[in-house]
Amino acid sequence: MKVTVVGAGAVGASCAEYIAIKNFASEVVLVDIKENFAEGKAMDLMQTASLNGFDTKITGSTNDYSKTAGSNIAVITSGIPRKPGMTREELIGINAGIVKSVSEQLIKYSPDVILIIVSNPMDTMTYLTHKVTGLPKNRIIGMGGALDSARFKYRLAEAMECPTSDIDGMVIGGHSDKGMVPLTRLATRNSVRVSEFLPAERLQKVLEDTKVGGATLTGMLGTSAWYAPGAAVSGLVQAIACDQQKMFPCSVLLEGEFGLNDLCIGVPVILGKNGIEKIVEINLDEAELSQLQASAVGVKATNTLLNDLNL
Ligand code: LAC
Repeated sequence: MKVTVVGAGAVGASCAEYIAIKNFASEVVLVDIKENFAEGKAMDLMQTASLNGFDTKITGSTNDYSKTAGSNIAVITSGIPRKPGMTREELIGINAGIVKSVSEQLIKYSPDVILIIVSNPMDTMTYLTHKVTGLPKNRIIGMGGALDSARFKYRLAEAMECPTSDIDGMVIGGHSDKGMVPLTRLATRNSVRVSEFLPAERLQKVLEDTKVGGATLTGMLGTSAWYAPGAAVSGLVQAIACDQQKMFPCSVLLEGEFGLNDLCIGVPVILGKNGIEKIVEINLDEAELSQLQASAVGVKATNTLLNDLNL
């Protein structure tokens, strides 16, 4: 199992680290445009192998995609991250061109690759990847919902003063401050609905904190977060690599599911060896469905910005 991670910045390096620590891949190739940067990160990570007990071989490459040949899965984290006060959507002008050329390079050397898109604005970058590569829809997966759900569970556990392992919950919709749809009605603590533990106002605060999860950290760190994004990506990669048939909310091309068409947005999917094995059309109530529809309007508005970019 060979995995490529493009972009050796904080998110990319964190992805590579978590993938290696989980020890299911034989090889991880880190790629970056900055001379020797990916090689340096790879060497530093490899020097943790004996300490952390993994056998994954991590190598680095300065923009030489021939080193990525034969990858089963590739993760695209390249582009610029958010600065404090910026929205993910504001990154589109720079990141779209980068994601386009990176995905073309990856497919040239790994025609059967499954792509995981992390670069922001993620839902639009996932849609763009469909447009430029023409790959089957099961092989293009946007990572947002797995991260947003982890943040949702963190906020619920914080509010209930309980371990996060007690919590189950999911965030669907666009990976944006306004577009996320945390499914509070369905979230549970050991299968008991969270509304039995928390009053409506506290649940509302959990929802609001979840939606600005990335922005809160960007304000604190001066750049976008990396540990939770890296861990979320490694979960998707592992589910595909190990054919786990595991369910995550991911951004995928919709063709009528949930009444939506011609966009990529976060919905529950099953991940296995073919990438997206299935889109799971769960029953949403009226409020949730209208929030998802509003989120789709926002994602589509960002998608139309692609038309002005001359890609
Ligand atoms: C975040 C970025 C990765 O939410 O989108 O932290």
